[in-house]
Amino acid sequence: MKVLLTGATGYIGSAVTDHLVAAGHQVVALTRGAEPRPGRGWHAQSIGDTADPASLAGAVTADIEAVIHLAPPSGDADTDTAVIEALIAPLRGTGRPFVYTSGVWVLGATGEAQEVDEEAPTNPIGIVGYRPRIERQVLAEAAEGVRAVVVRPGIVYGRGGGIPAILVDRARRQEVPEYYGAEGVRWPMVHVDDLAELFVAAAERAEAGTVWHGVGESAVA
Ligand SMILES: NC(=O)c1ccc[n+]([C@@H]2O[C@H](COP(=O)([O-])OP(=O)(O)OC[C@H]3O[C@@H](n4cnc5c(N)ncnc54)[C@H](OP(=O)(O)O)[C@@H]3O)[C@@H](O)[C@H]2O)c1
Repeated sequence: MKVLLTGATGYIGSAVTDHLVAAGHQVVALTRGAEPRPGRGWHAQSIGDTADPASLAGAVTADIEAVIHLAPPSGDADTDTAVIEALIAPLRGTGRPFVYTSGVWVLGATGEAQEVDEEAPTNPIGIVGYRPRIERQVLAEAAEGVRAVVVRPGIVYGRGGGIPAILVDRARRQEVPEYYGAEGVRWPMVHVDDLAELFVAAAERAEAGTVWHGVGESAVA
């Protein structure tokens, strides 16, 4: 498939690029600048800025067979709603996949519950407050002939990056580890290459209107 990938230069996007290419797909990377970035395995670059939904109007050309949207939310719900509309409208009636990246933080603190699944109600923490609304906007497109899918990664680690690497680096420099919230808090986590495999699988064969938790280890201290 020819896959339009937003966030292709990022931490998760770099791994997703590698796994898409290894699976025989072509990556069209949506980047903010026109500056060429050789050596990333991309088939082509497309220019657009998710802070400016109008700039995405021509991004999903007729030859794009799948869209994986990894660029982070802007912080403004109306802007993000318009971004989804711009990227998904050309896919209506085609049955082609649109994979939206959310995150397990839409579930909030799950308290004493040992594990929650994709059926659990959302209870988002502040910084992802409106993301469940965007998830619903995406999933509703299943009724419009789009193979609309939501992936919710846990906290991503591996390849020397992600939030865990930042925390380890801080601990090394301070010579003392930190924890966030309370000492008993556990985070669901996932290796970036396992997550990238999930994105490829979601684009290739997830059913329309489904949500997937991208978690490898469900409760890491
Ligand atoms: N990392 C995690 O633990 C984690 C966990 C759960 C969910 N997520 C979600 O996964 C997604 C990707 O996360 P990440 O960790 O890979 O982030 P990241 O490393 O910060 O990468 C962000 C990517 O988005 C692009 N981008 C940022 N603003 C943009 C804009 N205005 N227009 C177009 N592209 C833009 C960046 O491009 P530039 O090269 O131009 O900066 C970069 O390619 C996000 O939606 C994040 O919320 C991440």
